[in-house]
Amino acid sequence: MQNSTINKVSTKMSFSHRDFLGIEALNADEISFILDLAERYVVQNRRRPQTNSLLKGFVMINLFLENSTRTRLSFEMAAKRLGADVINMTTEGSSIKKGESFIDTLKTLNSLCPDIFVVRSKEEGAARASAEIMECPVINAGDGTNEHPTQAMLDALTLRRHFGRLDGLNIAICGDIIHGRVAHSNVLLLEKMGVHIKLVGPSELLPPNLENATTDMQEGLKDADAVMVLRIQEERLQKSLSFTSDEYFKSYGLTEEKLAWAKKDAVVLHPGPILRGAEIDATIADNPKRSLVTTQVEMGIAVRMACLDLLTRYKR
Ligand code: CP
Repeated sequence: MQNSTINKVSTKMSFSHRDFLGIEALNADEISFILDLAERYVVQNRRRPQTNSLLKGFVMINLFLENSTRTRLSFEMAAKRLGADVINMTTEGSSIKKGESFIDTLKTLNSLCPDIFVVRSKEEGAARASAEIMECPVINAGDGTNEHPTQAMLDALTLRRHFGRLDGLNIAICGDIIHGRVAHSNVLLLEKMGVHIKLVGPSELLPPNLENATTDMQEGLKDADAVMVLRIQEERLQKSLSFTSDEYFKSYGLTEEKLAWAKKDAVVLHPGPILRGAEIDATIADNPKRSLVTTQVEMGIAVRMACLDLLTRYKR
């Protein structure tokens, strides 16, 4: 498909949101619409040249106040594939280190007049606060334990491409659900798309009183088409856990034995970073017949290109 074809088809679609702060604000049609557009970018990304000039002359600021490999680099890659210029900023080397507040940082960045603003922060609500100050579209690249909406979109795209649908799938999300913004955005998205979700983990890592949550890994993986494994978010723990890492791996670490409790051809997703031997065994994480991890990373670029495309349409 030619670049011009991608652009011609996709500009017929409409998208009424200025920002992309969370899955909560989207309905099923809007989610499908983003996934459909991302599919077109998967095609673009698999041929040469991979770039187009859709966002030529646009500047994206990528503010990452928490560490990141996949999200930061794939936003940068996505913007560059669309022809935009990218300014990366982290805490290190910035005036935040001298005590400048988040709000003053935002006001300064807004005065630079970027065309799109991507933000990751350990603070819940940082993306929403950014949207109140920034005059350009804001994308949430993960805010504390709240949401990581583009991760949920790329997970959905990975699952939809593998199974050909989302509706009716059984997905088990295992691990640290309570601190996991990936879990939160995925639950919101997958439920809107008709997926049956089971949340699996030790009680202290599960939200209380959820009908679809279980501490029993075998029960949680029963009939699962896919298992999404999440690491324990050590950096967000308020107090130490009541179990050792060995005990956790014994009960909840995904091994071939435990994966056999799911459907025969069940696949495995992990948002990364993967800690082999902590929440997943290397024999699963590195098995290309079972693991969709590298596909998730590839889909991350396409989904982020779709988001950048949609949110800048009002200017093009
Ligand atoms: N999935 C994810 O958010 O990974 P990074 O922290 O490396 O961006």
